[in-house]
Amino acid sequence: MEINIQSLEQIQDAARRFIEAMGDNTVFAFYGKMGAGKTTFIKAVCEALGVTDVITSPTFAIVNEYRSDTTGELIYHFDFYRIKKLEEVYDMGYEDYFYSGALCFIEWPELIDDLLPGNAVKVTIEETEGGSRRLTLDEAR
Ligand SMILES: Nc1ncnc2c1ncn2[C@@H]1O[C@H](COP(=O)(O)OP(=O)(O)OP(=O)(O)O)[C@@H](O)[C@H]1O
Ligand SMILES: [Mg+2]
Repeated sequence: MEINIQSLEQIQDAARRFIEAMGDNTVFAFYGKMGAGKTTFIKAVCEALGVTDVITSPTFAIVNEYRSDTTGELIYHFDFYRIKKLEEVYDMGYEDYFYSGALCFIEWPELIDDLLPGNAVKVTIEETEGGSRRLTLDEAR
């Protein structure tokens, strides 16, 4: 399915539509160029899920952990951009997160493609002419 985000003002609405489409899936791999809007959208989804802590881009840590105030559930936000070796990903215990049943939102999944669970949902974000964003949600792999 496709979700169009015309502008940042509409991102909360887009986040709600995304959440409706998530179903029982827990691992979401966000593909998209640098600056496509992955962090911004994941942040909007987390806010819509009731996360109120300041959510920063996980630029310096591989994983940031958030807790939804409404459901108490944990949400993990990964950014693998700075990964140099897969060993770093093994060392952080990625399996404990990916197979925990908690929501996992992943930026730069192409850098750890072989480690993604088979049921990870592929999400692609593209900037269109005019600056709006097109989000494509694939079926589980
Ligand atoms: N839906 C949107 N509409 C308009 N501007 C957006 C949208 N999403 C993100 N932006 C803007 O694009 C810029 C980059 O966004 P963001 O940091 O989320 O990209 P990213 O895909 O996470 O990049 P990186 O690969 O570097 O992590 C920000 O300035 C943000 O405000
Ligand atoms: Mg980002």
